[in-house]
This record gives sequence, C-alpha cells and structure tokens, in this order.
Amino acid sequence: ENSQQKQLIDLHEQTVKLYNHILTNTKMGQPALDYLHKRGITDETIATYKLGYAPAQRLLKPFFDERKVDYQLLRKTGLFSEDQDGNLRDRFVDRVMYPIRNGGGQTVGFSGRMLTKNPDMPKYLNSPETETFNKRKILFNLDLARANIRSQQPALLFEGFMDVITAYQAGIKSGIASMGTSLTEQQIYDIKRITRDVIICYDGDTPGQKAIKRAIDEFGEHDNSMGIKVVTVPDGMDPDEFIRSKGADPFNELLTHAQAPIEFELSYLKKQYNLNSEVDQSNYIAEAIKLISKVDSSISRDLYLNRLADEFSVEKKLLQQQLMPLLKRTP
Ligand code: UTP
Ligand code: MN
Ligand code: MN
Ligand code: MN
Ligand code: MN
Repeated sequence: ENSQQKQLIDLHEQTVKLYNHILTNTKMGQPALDYLHKRGITDETIATYKLGYAPAQRLLKPFFDERKVDYQLLRKTGLFSEDQDGNLRDRFVDRVMYPIRNGGGQTVGFSGRMLTKNPDMPKYLNSPETETFNKRKILFNLDLARANIRSQQPALLFEGFMDVITAYQAGIKSGIASMGTSLTEQQIYDIKRITRDVIICYDGDTPGQKAIKRAIDEFGEHDNSMGIKVVTVPDGMDPDEFIRSKGADPFNELLTHAQAPIEFELSYLKKQYNLNSEVDQSNYIAEAIKLISKVDSSISRDLYLNRLADEFSVEKKLLQQQLMPLLKRTP
C-alpha cells in the first residue's frame, strides 16, 4: 500500500463520515433515514455499516475544496464525475450510500442506492475502478464475516448488500456478497483461502437461480474438495425479504436443509420440463443421468439412480446402462 493509496483511503473514510452524518443528523437525510427504517434497518446497523446519504445538493466537492485537497488526488477517488473541461462534480446524488470495504476493513469504494424507482438509472451506482477499488475483486462484508467463518460458520454467499446487512442484523454474521450474480475467479479464490464450507444463498428469482448453477460450476471447476451447499429461497424472494418477512429462525432452518449441488441441479433441471409428457420425461431422465454421472461417490450415484428409477417407475438397469458410458472411470 503506497502513500497515494493511503490518501485515497483517507478521503474515503472522510466521505463515509460526512455521508453518515448527513443521514443520521440532518433534515436533508431524513427521507433516506425513513427509507432505511422502513426496510427494517436499525440505527445500530446503520452505525455498524456506517451507511450514509449523498444528498441531491452536491456537497462533497465543496467539502474537500474547503480542506484544500489536491485536484489530481480527488480525480482518482472515483467519487466525482468529470466534465469536458475537467470540472469535478459529486458522482453520487440523492442516494443511500453503502461504504464498500476491502478485506482489511478499509473503505475503498461506495455503492449508492436510489430512493425512488427510476428505470432510467441504475438501482445501485457503484464507484468506478480506481487504484484501490475493483468491484470484481471485493467480497462485501468479508472483513466483518471472516472471523465468524474461520471459527465455525459456513460462509453464506449472498448477491446483495441488503441480504448481508439484514442477515447480520438478525444475528447471522458470516454473510458475504458477490455484489451481483456474477461471481469472479478472484472472489472464489478469496473464499477458498478461508473456508471450504460455503452455502450459496442467491435470490429466489430466475436470475438468482441461474447464477447458482454457474457458481456451482465455478466453485467445483478445479476442485472437488469444496463443501458447497445451496439454499433456494422460496417464492422468488431474496434473503433480505425472506428474513424480514419470516424471521431469522426460518432462514436458519433453510440453511440447515441446504442442498448438495447435485440435488439443486436435479430440481432446477426438473423445473425446465413438463413431466406430464413422456417425451419430456425421457429427456429429463437423460439429462439427469448426465448430472448424476458427475457425482464423485459411486454410492451417491447409486442412490440418485434409485431415486430416479422409483420416481419414474423405470428399470434401474436401464438407467445404469445410460450412466456407464458417461463415467470417466468405471469404479
Ligand atoms: P438485486 O437486483 O438483487 O438487488 O442485485 P438487491 O440487492 O435485492 O437490492 P434491493 O433489495 O432492491 O435494495 C443484487 C446486487 O447486485 C448489485 C448490488 O450489489 C446488489 O445488492 N447491483 C444490482 C448493482 O451493483 N447495480 C445494480 O444496478 C443492481
Ligand atoms: Mn424513521
Ligand atoms: Mn437479484
Ligand atoms: Mn433485495
Ligand atoms: Mn436481491
């Protein structure tokens, strides 16, 4: 960490304080504070995550100008947009601010959530890539979750900020977020350095479920020692919505019954077929056998074949015949 990075982090820490102050202590921040309260976020959680508000009236630029912060340095923070003449303006306007910390707990970027629906703008606006910030290389909340993951708890991989924060507030403190549905290699690498024990808790909607499939593949790709499990949040909810509407206990219950990847993939696959049709049935069975062929343990494979045979009242022998040529090595 060089001295410029130090300065950038310092400017971020000042910005965190300013936005947090505006959220919690000013009239300007009241609508944003109401918004968070309505989402069930407590003042304690606001303090823990140092949430803030960037008001409609731009004030970060004047704040730093008053403190005589160097123009070239300000440009590099990513906190400003720049016009053709090089004038800087606050990037985040009228947004609830989520500080994003790196694994070492230093704030290196922000994400700002819009308060009112507007399809023309991104729901969350993120800091651009800077010398200290690359969204693809950060897992949100890793700094707070790491010790809990190291002690005993599986890492809970969420999509979003609010999933992590609501879970944390409910006492579920080993959550981290990929900040969207595309999990990167760097993020996987960082998780694997801490634990083999991961429960994927992506959103229950279609994009979330699709992303689970990708994440399973990516975790397993060069490594079958990972203990990946999967939770499907019911009714298209995301974990934040689920915990808020049902409570922490039902969510912990979901975690207790997290599925093995193969179980998730089989039930996900099944949803793609109309199993009243016999053509679809046999197509499903063929695809299911492909998935089963990738299971490492021969005993597990046998159990899944049994299940499939029972479910569709077909001869297990026939299923075995289809499975055999797909196995890398016959046991
Ligand atoms: P979601 O669309 O699931 O949003 O995106 P969310 O987390 O449920 O947001 P709320 O509950 O409406 O506030 C999951 C995550 O993807 C990233 C954010 O990290 C978000 O939490 N994302 C989403 C962006 O970076 N930009 C976007 O415009 C949307
Ligand atoms: Mn309120
Ligand atoms: Mn989502
Ligand atoms: Mn949500
Ligand atoms: Mn979501």
